[in-house]
Amino acid sequence: MQKEVQTKEWFPESWRDFPIKQHPIYPDQEALKESEKELKSYPPLVFAGEARNLKERLKQASCGKAFLLQGGDCAESFSHFSAINIRDMFKIIIQMGAILTFAGSCPIIKVGRLAGQFAKPRSSDTEEVDGLKLPSYRGDMINGIEFDPTSRIPDPKRMLRAYHQSAATLNLIRAFAQGGLADLNEVHRWNLSFVKNNDFGKKYEELADRITQTLGFMKACGISTQNTPILKETEFYTSHEALLLHYEEQLVRQDSLSGQWYDCSAHMLWIGERTRELDGAHLEFLRGVKNPVGVKIGPNATKEDILGICDILNPQNEPGRLNLIVRMGAENIKTRLPALLGQINPEGREILWSCDPMHGNTIKASSGYKTRVFDSVLSEVKSFFEIHQAQGSHAGGVHLEMTGQDVTECVGGSQAITEAGLGCNYNTQCDPRLNATQAIELAFLIADMLKHQNRS
Ligand code: PEP
Ligand code: CO
Repeated sequence: MQKEVQTKEWFPESWRDFPIKQHPIYPDQEALKESEKELKSYPPLVFAGEARNLKERLKQASCGKAFLLQGGDCAESFSHFSAINIRDMFKIIIQMGAILTFAGSCPIIKVGRLAGQFAKPRSSDTEEVDGLKLPSYRGDMINGIEFDPTSRIPDPKRMLRAYHQSAATLNLIRAFAQGGLADLNEVHRWNLSFVKNNDFGKKYEELADRITQTLGFMKACGISTQNTPILKETEFYTSHEALLLHYEEQLVRQDSLSGQWYDCSAHMLWIGERTRELDGAHLEFLRGVKNPVGVKIGPNATKEDILGICDILNPQNEPGRLNLIVRMGAENIKTRLPALLGQINPEGREILWSCDPMHGNTIKASSGYKTRVFDSVLSEVKSFFEIHQAQGSHAGGVHLEMTGQDVTECVGGSQAITEAGLGCNYNTQCDPRLNATQAIELAFLIADMLKHQNRS
């Protein structure tokens, strides 16, 4: 039975009365107020109507009629901000989208972890190097990554810079999505040059040839980009972790059409594994905004946790509103998820289940680099599909940390990156990401699973 609909009043700052984790304490409270005031005066980054469209799309994914592809950097940074990085991230996501749509025969909802993904939860409050202990780095929106005492002081002005970078990123993404790069006739151009000669790059070329042939056939039948604009555009949505509530609160706007509140910093927001307490500030904040929302679910989540999250974030049990992002690890998922679904599925809650195969599979290589083994990532996704199939629910999406660059951060894959090779181009601001080749390889493997999924 579902609890009665929450009636407690909500307002954008009501989170401030709740216990909060992973949040910076700004030493200069006056400066914080000034930055908050300025941020509040800025235009929204996204519109309520766009968030509503995404919710409609996600509704389809929750019943197995579409699939969510969410991905991007673990953390965006001020120093890696460039048109090339944004373009390559966009390309890799639409390229994976093409593979999953064509080879998996399923509509794909593309959501970037970008244009706002600047705040990070940390496992420890401090970091120690050569006997010097400093506060941990918490993302460029909060403090600096440089290991010196001044950089690590939370600076509220960083929120303004993050906003402006997000606005510029989103502007370029919108141009790419609607201005020609996403045109299906360009499908060959999406293959990044360093991927092309790899086995999976070649497999992609074959798939692109088939799409081009199909387009030629359709054109001959009278269906072309001139009369069917959908062929030359794509829908692309943004998302990030709603961790820094001083930032999120300032971007909440009341929709003039519906009178409802939306967090206009992104289309979709999620809460991390470390900040999802039922009586905490982060759930309180997200309960009041109407965007689609996600919550990470680790190996120790209980039935009570999940039902509590559903009660708070989705009291009206609307499909498309709540995405639970399972991140248990390749081994834990095999025992924990079947038991959990066995308890949750009979409750009739509307949940879009997706799989984050990254955060439960982080290990430390002997060289000291944080890494992830490609096979563990793949194994967690496979188990996720199989368990849903067995339990009668839908594997609705994936949530990945990846990049369009040729980095060496995760070991394995068809390039067989080794622990010794991690140092070649280890470039992440936070967690290790799949590189473009590994991302394409994973997309082909997921396409296979999608094709065999029961979508009735
Ligand atoms: C993340 O998505 O970068 C993250 C920190 O995830 P989690 O909350 O699942 O650990
Ligand atoms: Co991460």
